[in-house]
Amino acid sequence: MRTVVLLLMMGIVDQSISQHYSQFQWLSHLRGRRQHAGLQANDVDCPLECDCLSTFPTAMYCHSRNLQHVPYVPSHIKYVYLQRNQITGIQDGVFDNATNLVWVVLCHNQLNSDKIGKNVFSKLKHLDRLLLDHNELIRLPPNLPKSITDLRFGHNKISKIPSNSFEGMANLTTLQLQANVIEDVGVVFKGLKSLTMLDMRKNRLRKIPDNLPKRLQQLYLDSNEIESVQAGFLTMNPELQFVRLADNKLTDKGLPSNVFNISTLVELDLSFNKLEKIPVVSRNLENLYLQANKIKEFSLSSFCRTIDMTSFSRLRMLRLDANEISARGIPAEAAYCLRHVAFIHV
Ligand SMILES: *[C@@H]1O[C@H](CO)[C@@H](O)[C@H](O)[C@H]1NC(C)=O
Ligand SMILES: *[C@@H]1O[C@H](CO)[C@@H](O)[C@H](O)[C@H]1NC(C)=O
Ligand SMILES: *[C@@H]1O[C@H](CO)[C@@H](O)[C@H](O)[C@H]1NC(C)=O
Repeated sequence: MRTVVLLLMMGIVDQSISQHYSQFQWLSHLRGRRQHAGLQANDVDCPLECDCLSTFPTAMYCHSRNLQHVPYVPSHIKYVYLQRNQITGIQDGVFDNATNLVWVVLCHNQLNSDKIGKNVFSKLKHLDRLLLDHNELIRLPPNLPKSITDLRFGHNKISKIPSNSFEGMANLTTLQLQANVIEDVGVVFKGLKSLTMLDMRKNRLRKIPDNLPKRLQQLYLDSNEIESVQAGFLTMNPELQFVRLADNKLTDKGLPSNVFNISTLVELDLSFNKLEKIPVVSRNLENLYLQANKIKEFSLSSFCRTIDMTSFSRLRMLRLDANEISARGIPAEAAYCLRHVAFIHV
Protein backbone atom coordinates (compact mmCIF):
# COMPACT_ATOMS: atom_id res chain seq x y z
CA MET A 1 0.00 0.00 0.00
CA ARG A 2 2.71 2.39 1.01
CA THR A 3 4.64 1.55 -2.16
CA VAL A 4 1.68 2.53 -4.26
CA VAL A 5 1.31 5.84 -2.46
CA LEU A 6 4.98 6.53 -2.88
CA LEU A 7 4.89 5.74 -6.56
CA LEU A 8 1.92 8.07 -6.95
CA MET A 9 3.82 10.75 -5.10
CA MET A 10 6.73 10.22 -7.41
CA GLY A 11 4.52 11.06 -10.34
CA ILE A 12 3.54 14.37 -8.77
CA VAL A 13 7.05 15.10 -7.67
CA ASP A 14 8.49 14.61 -11.15
CA GLN A 15 6.22 17.31 -12.54
CA SER A 16 6.42 19.86 -9.83
CA ILE A 17 9.87 19.92 -8.38
CA SER A 18 12.49 21.99 -10.06
CA GLN A 19 15.39 20.04 -8.57
CA HIS A 20 17.26 18.29 -11.33
CA TYR A 21 17.02 14.76 -10.14
CA SER A 22 17.49 11.79 -12.36
CA GLN A 23 14.69 9.29 -12.03
CA PHE A 24 17.00 6.82 -10.35
CA GLN A 25 18.10 9.23 -7.68
CA TRP A 26 14.49 9.84 -6.84
CA LEU A 27 13.77 6.16 -6.75
CA SER A 28 16.61 5.36 -4.40
CA HIS A 29 15.73 8.34 -2.24
CA LEU A 30 12.11 7.32 -1.95
CA ARG A 31 13.12 3.74 -1.22
CA GLY A 32 15.34 5.01 1.57
CA ARG A 33 12.42 7.01 2.83
CA ARG A 34 10.15 4.00 2.76
CA GLN A 35 12.60 2.16 5.00
CA HIS A 36 12.34 4.98 7.49
CA ALA A 37 8.65 5.39 6.92
CA GLY A 38 7.85 4.32 10.47
CA LEU A 39 9.60 7.42 11.72
CA GLN A 40 8.41 9.77 9.02
CA ALA A 41 5.99 12.30 10.40
CA ASN A 42 2.98 12.38 8.12
CA ASP A 43 1.28 15.29 9.76
CA VAL A 44 4.37 17.51 9.84
CA ASP A 45 4.92 20.16 7.19
CA CYS A 46 8.06 18.95 5.43
CA PRO A 47 9.29 19.53 1.87
CA LEU A 48 9.30 16.45 -0.32
CA GLU A 49 13.02 16.62 -0.93
CA CYS A 50 13.75 16.28 2.80
CA ASP A 51 13.00 14.05 5.73
CA CYS A 52 11.44 15.20 8.98
CA LEU A 53 11.05 12.83 11.88
CA SER A 54 8.07 12.80 14.18
CA THR A 55 10.48 12.10 17.03
CA PHE A 56 12.38 15.34 16.34
CA PRO A 57 9.94 17.60 14.53
CA THR A 58 12.06 20.77 14.56
CA ALA A 59 14.78 19.22 12.37
CA MET A 60 14.77 18.91 8.61
CA TYR A 61 17.21 16.49 6.99
CA CYS A 62 18.07 17.32 3.40
CA HIS A 63 21.71 16.23 3.21
CA SER A 64 23.40 14.15 0.50
CA ARG A 65 20.64 14.15 -2.10
CA ASN A 66 21.93 16.16 -5.07
CA LEU A 67 19.88 19.24 -4.27
CA GLN A 68 20.71 22.31 -6.34
CA HIS A 69 18.54 24.75 -4.36
CA VAL A 70 17.60 25.22 -0.74
CA PRO A 71 14.09 23.75 -0.38
CA TYR A 72 11.24 25.57 1.34
CA VAL A 73 11.92 25.70 5.08
CA PRO A 74 8.71 25.66 7.19
CA SER A 75 8.54 28.16 10.01
CA HIS A 76 8.64 25.61 12.85
CA ILE A 77 12.05 24.25 11.77
CA LYS A 78 15.05 25.04 13.97
CA TYR A 79 17.72 22.76 12.53
CA VAL A 80 18.27 22.37 8.81
CA TYR A 81 20.81 19.94 7.41
CA LEU A 82 21.73 20.69 3.80
CA GLN A 83 25.30 19.42 3.69
CA ARG A 84 26.74 17.43 0.78
CA ASN A 85 24.51 18.67 -2.01
CA GLN A 86 25.21 20.74 -5.11
CA ILE A 87 23.73 24.03 -3.98
CA THR A 88 25.45 26.95 -5.75
CA GLY A 89 23.41 29.91 -4.55
CA ILE A 90 20.79 31.13 -2.08
CA GLN A 91 18.38 33.93 -2.98
CA ASP A 92 17.20 36.53 -0.51
CA GLY A 93 13.94 35.44 1.08
CA VAL A 94 14.59 31.70 1.12
CA PHE A 95 14.81 31.64 4.91
CA ASP A 96 12.35 34.48 5.52
CA ASN A 97 9.63 32.24 6.94
CA ALA A 98 12.08 30.23 8.99
CA THR A 99 12.94 32.80 11.62
CA ASN A 100 13.24 30.12 14.29
CA LEU A 101 16.32 28.60 12.68
CA VAL A 102 19.08 27.88 15.15
CA TRP A 103 21.41 25.71 13.07
CA VAL A 104 22.01 25.98 9.33
CA VAL A 105 24.38 23.35 7.95
CA LEU A 106 25.46 24.00 4.38
CA CYS A 107 28.96 22.52 4.27
CA HIS A 108 30.18 20.54 1.25
CA ASN A 109 28.13 22.34 -1.37
CA GLN A 110 29.24 24.61 -4.24
CA LEU A 111 28.12 27.93 -2.85
CA ASN A 112 29.34 30.87 -4.89
CA SER A 113 29.57 34.31 -3.25
CA ASP A 114 28.01 36.05 -6.26
CA LYS A 115 24.92 33.87 -5.96
CA ILE A 116 24.20 34.55 -2.29
CA GLY A 117 21.70 37.35 -1.60
CA LYS A 118 22.76 40.22 0.66
CA ASN A 119 20.14 39.43 3.28
CA VAL A 120 19.82 35.66 3.12
CA PHE A 121 20.64 35.18 6.79
CA SER A 122 19.87 38.64 8.16
CA LYS A 123 16.40 37.86 9.57
CA LEU A 124 17.51 34.77 11.50
CA LYS A 125 17.60 36.41 14.92
CA HIS A 126 18.11 33.12 16.75
CA LEU A 127 20.81 31.66 14.51
CA ASP A 128 23.44 29.99 16.64
CA ARG A 129 25.46 27.89 14.23
CA LEU A 130 26.21 28.57 10.57
CA LEU A 131 28.39 26.00 8.87
CA LEU A 132 29.59 26.93 5.39
CA ASP A 133 32.86 25.04 5.13
CA HIS A 134 33.91 23.29 1.90
CA ASN A 135 32.21 25.64 -0.56
CA GLU A 136 33.46 28.04 -3.25
CA LEU A 137 33.01 31.30 -1.34
CA ILE A 138 35.37 34.17 -2.10
CA ARG A 139 33.94 36.42 0.64
CA LEU A 140 31.83 36.16 3.77
CA PRO A 141 28.09 36.63 3.21
CA PRO A 142 27.15 40.12 4.47
CA ASN A 143 24.67 40.89 7.26
CA LEU A 144 25.21 37.81 9.36
CA PRO A 145 23.06 37.65 12.51
CA LYS A 146 24.77 38.91 15.66
CA SER A 147 23.45 35.94 17.62
CA ILE A 148 25.86 33.42 16.01
CA THR A 149 28.17 31.54 18.37
CA ASP A 150 29.77 29.07 15.93
CA LEU A 151 30.75 30.24 12.45
CA ARG A 152 32.64 28.00 10.02
CA PHE A 153 34.05 29.02 6.66
CA GLY A 154 36.96 26.59 6.35
CA HIS A 155 38.01 25.29 2.91
CA ASN A 156 36.66 28.11 0.76
CA LYS A 157 38.47 30.71 -1.38
CA ILE A 158 38.14 33.73 0.88
CA SER A 159 40.94 36.28 0.49
CA LYS A 160 39.73 39.41 2.28
CA ILE A 161 37.68 40.00 5.39
CA PRO A 162 36.12 43.49 5.61
CA SER A 163 36.76 45.11 8.99
CA ASN A 164 33.08 45.15 10.04
CA SER A 165 32.41 41.48 9.20
CA PHE A 166 31.97 40.32 12.78
CA GLU A 167 30.77 43.57 14.32
CA GLY A 168 28.50 43.07 17.29
CA MET A 169 28.90 39.29 17.45
CA ALA A 170 29.31 39.41 21.18
CA ASN A 171 28.53 35.70 21.63
CA LEU A 172 30.76 34.25 18.91
CA THR A 173 32.94 31.60 20.54
CA THR A 174 34.26 29.55 17.59
CA LEU A 175 35.47 30.95 14.28
CA GLN A 176 36.93 28.67 11.63
CA LEU A 177 38.58 30.20 8.58
CA GLN A 178 41.14 27.50 7.81
CA ALA A 179 42.21 26.59 4.27
CA ASN A 180 41.36 29.88 2.57
CA VAL A 181 43.72 32.42 0.95
CA ILE A 182 43.67 35.15 3.59
CA GLU A 183 46.78 37.36 3.68
CA ASP A 184 45.81 39.92 6.24
CA VAL A 185 42.94 40.41 8.67
CA GLY A 186 43.61 43.88 10.03
CA VAL A 187 41.90 44.18 13.41
CA VAL A 188 38.71 42.39 12.37
CA PHE A 189 38.60 40.16 15.49
CA LYS A 190 38.98 42.98 17.99
CA GLY A 191 35.44 43.19 19.36
CA LEU A 192 34.77 39.46 19.66
CA LYS A 193 34.38 39.40 23.42
CA SER A 194 33.47 35.73 23.69
CA LEU A 195 35.76 34.21 21.08
CA THR A 196 37.76 31.33 22.54
CA MET A 197 38.77 29.46 19.39
CA LEU A 198 40.23 30.87 16.16
CA ASP A 199 41.33 28.52 13.41
CA MET A 200 43.26 30.13 10.56
CA ARG A 201 45.44 27.22 9.51
CA LYS A 202 46.45 27.02 5.84
CA ASN A 203 46.14 30.64 4.84
CA ARG A 204 48.73 33.19 3.70
CA LEU A 205 49.24 35.20 6.87
CA ARG A 206 52.64 36.82 7.25
CA LYS A 207 52.14 37.74 10.89
CA ILE A 208 50.04 36.86 13.89
CA PRO A 209 46.85 38.96 13.71
CA ASP A 210 46.94 42.07 15.91
CA ASN A 211 44.29 42.75 18.53
CA LEU A 212 43.27 39.17 19.07
CA PRO A 213 40.25 38.79 21.37
CA LYS A 214 41.15 38.83 25.04
CA ARG A 215 39.31 35.60 25.88
CA LEU A 216 40.99 33.55 23.16
CA GLN A 217 42.17 30.15 24.41
CA GLN A 218 43.01 28.29 21.21
CA LEU A 219 44.86 29.87 18.31
CA TYR A 220 45.68 27.72 15.29
CA LEU A 221 47.91 29.35 12.70
CA ASP A 222 49.74 26.34 11.23
CA SER A 223 50.78 26.41 7.56
CA ASN A 224 50.95 30.14 7.00
CA GLU A 225 53.94 32.33 6.10
CA ILE A 226 54.65 33.78 9.52
CA GLU A 227 58.29 34.78 10.02
CA SER A 228 58.15 36.38 13.44
CA VAL A 229 56.15 36.72 16.62
CA GLN A 230 55.41 40.17 18.04
CA ALA A 231 56.94 40.87 21.46
CA GLY A 232 54.32 40.59 24.17
CA PHE A 233 51.89 38.77 21.92
CA LEU A 234 51.02 36.32 24.67
CA THR A 235 50.90 38.81 27.52
CA MET A 236 48.24 40.69 25.55
CA ASN A 237 46.22 37.47 25.29
CA PRO A 238 46.44 36.16 28.81
CA GLU A 239 44.01 33.29 28.36
CA LEU A 240 45.75 31.57 25.46
CA GLN A 241 46.42 27.93 26.28
CA PHE A 242 46.95 26.28 22.90
CA VAL A 243 49.10 27.99 20.30
CA ARG A 244 49.91 26.23 17.06
CA LEU A 245 52.40 27.79 14.68
CA ALA A 246 53.67 24.67 12.91
CA ASP A 247 54.81 24.83 9.30
CA ASN A 248 55.56 28.54 9.13
CA LYS A 249 58.82 30.42 8.49
CA LEU A 250 59.85 31.17 12.05
CA THR A 251 63.53 31.77 12.78
CA ASP A 252 65.30 32.52 16.10
CA LYS A 253 65.61 36.13 14.97
CA GLY A 254 61.83 36.37 14.72
CA LEU A 255 61.25 35.31 18.34
CA PRO A 256 61.74 38.02 21.02
CA SER A 257 63.30 36.54 24.15
CA ASN A 258 60.79 35.12 26.62
CA VAL A 259 57.89 35.58 24.18
CA PHE A 260 56.64 32.06 24.98
CA ASN A 261 57.54 32.15 28.70
CA ILE A 262 53.91 32.62 29.72
CA SER A 263 52.48 30.61 32.56
CA THR A 264 49.00 30.03 31.06
CA LEU A 265 50.30 28.24 27.97
CA VAL A 266 49.65 24.48 27.97
CA GLU A 267 50.56 23.52 24.42
CA LEU A 268 52.93 25.10 21.93
CA ASP A 269 53.50 23.72 18.45
CA LEU A 270 56.50 25.19 16.64
CA SER A 271 57.29 22.16 14.50
CA PHE A 272 58.31 22.47 10.83
CA ASN A 273 59.94 25.88 11.16
CA LYS A 274 63.55 27.09 10.94
CA LEU A 275 64.46 27.44 14.61
CA GLU A 276 68.05 26.73 15.67
CA LYS A 277 67.50 27.08 19.41
CA ILE A 278 64.91 25.82 21.85
CA PRO A 279 62.94 28.93 22.93
CA VAL A 280 62.49 29.65 26.64
CA VAL A 281 59.14 28.30 27.79
CA SER A 282 57.22 28.48 31.03
CA ARG A 283 57.53 25.70 33.56
CA ASN A 284 53.78 25.20 33.26
CA LEU A 285 53.93 24.19 29.60
CA GLU A 286 52.84 20.56 29.08
CA ASN A 287 53.30 19.86 25.37
CA LEU A 288 56.05 21.27 23.20
CA TYR A 289 56.43 20.32 19.57
CA LEU A 290 59.73 21.29 17.95
CA GLN A 291 60.26 18.50 15.44
CA ALA A 292 61.57 19.29 11.97
CA ASN A 293 63.47 22.47 12.81
CA LYS A 294 67.24 23.09 12.68
CA ILE A 295 67.93 22.87 16.41
CA LYS A 296 71.58 22.09 17.09
CA GLU A 297 71.78 22.19 20.85
CA PHE A 298 69.70 20.90 23.77
CA SER A 299 69.53 23.89 26.15
CA LEU A 300 68.11 22.76 29.46
CA SER A 301 67.91 26.40 30.58
CA SER A 302 65.04 26.84 28.12
CA PHE A 303 62.95 24.72 30.53
CA CYS A 304 64.50 25.28 33.97
CA ARG A 305 66.46 28.33 34.95
CA THR A 306 68.11 26.57 37.85
CA ILE A 307 68.74 22.87 38.24
CA ASP A 308 67.81 21.46 41.62
CA MET A 309 65.42 18.94 43.10
CA THR A 310 62.61 21.44 43.63
CA SER A 311 62.50 23.42 40.43
CA PHE A 312 61.17 21.40 37.56
CA SER A 313 59.07 21.69 34.45
CA ARG A 314 55.56 20.31 33.99
CA LEU A 315 56.40 19.30 30.43
CA ARG A 316 55.03 15.88 29.49
CA MET A 317 55.48 15.80 25.71
CA LEU A 318 58.68 16.98 24.04
CA ARG A 319 59.33 16.34 20.39
CA LEU A 320 62.72 17.19 18.98
CA ASP A 321 62.99 14.62 16.21
CA ALA A 322 64.18 15.67 12.76
CA ASN A 323 66.55 18.28 14.19
CA GLU A 324 70.34 18.31 14.40
CA ILE A 325 70.70 16.91 17.92
CA SER A 326 71.04 13.36 19.17
CA ALA A 327 70.11 11.65 22.45
CA ARG A 328 73.76 12.02 23.50
CA GLY A 329 73.35 15.78 23.41
CA ILE A 330 70.79 15.68 26.24
CA PRO A 331 72.48 16.45 29.61
CA ALA A 332 71.96 14.13 32.58
CA GLU A 333 70.32 16.95 34.62
CA ALA A 334 67.39 16.79 32.22
CA ALA A 335 66.15 13.90 34.39
CA TYR A 336 65.47 16.38 37.24
CA CYS A 337 64.15 19.28 35.24
CA LEU A 338 62.04 17.26 32.80
CA ARG A 339 60.88 14.62 35.27
CA HIS A 340 57.37 14.41 33.78
CA VAL A 341 58.58 13.73 30.27
CA ALA A 342 58.43 9.96 29.74
CA PHE A 343 60.33 9.95 26.49
CA ILE A 344 62.12 12.68 24.54
CA HIS A 345 61.72 12.13 20.81
CA VAL A 346 65.05 13.03 19.16
C1 LIG B 1 6.23 32.28 3.49
O1 LIG B 1 4.94 32.07 3.96
C2 LIG B 1 3.95 32.68 3.16
C3 LIG B 1 2.61 32.49 3.87
O2 LIG B 1 2.46 31.18 4.29
C4 LIG B 1 3.96 32.10 1.76
O3 LIG B 1 3.02 32.74 0.95
C5 LIG B 1 5.37 32.30 1.16
O4 LIG B 1 5.46 31.68 -0.10
C6 LIG B 1 6.43 31.75 2.06
N1 LIG B 1 7.73 32.11 1.57
C7 LIG B 1 8.73 31.24 1.42
C8 LIG B 1 10.03 31.80 0.92
O5 LIG B 1 8.64 30.06 1.68
C1 LIG C 1 24.22 36.81 23.66
O1 LIG C 1 23.70 35.87 24.57
C2 LIG C 1 22.93 36.45 25.61
C3 LIG C 1 22.56 35.33 26.58
O2 LIG C 1 22.11 34.21 25.91
C4 LIG C 1 21.72 37.14 25.02
O3 LIG C 1 20.93 37.72 26.02
C5 LIG C 1 22.19 38.21 24.03
O4 LIG C 1 21.10 38.81 23.38
C6 LIG C 1 23.11 37.61 22.99
N1 LIG C 1 23.71 38.65 22.18
C7 LIG C 1 23.50 38.74 20.87
C8 LIG C 1 24.24 39.84 20.17
O5 LIG C 1 22.80 37.96 20.25
C1 LIG D 1 60.00 32.91 32.80
O1 LIG D 1 59.04 33.70 33.47
C2 LIG D 1 59.05 33.50 34.88
C3 LIG D 1 57.87 34.22 35.48
O2 LIG D 1 57.73 35.46 34.86
C4 LIG D 1 60.40 33.93 35.44
O3 LIG D 1 60.42 33.75 36.84
C5 LIG D 1 61.48 33.10 34.78
O4 LIG D 1 62.77 33.54 35.22
C6 LIG D 1 61.41 33.21 33.27
N1 LIG D 1 62.36 32.28 32.67
C7 LIG D 1 63.45 32.67 32.05
C8 LIG D 1 64.34 31.58 31.56
O5 LIG D 1 63.70 33.84 31.85
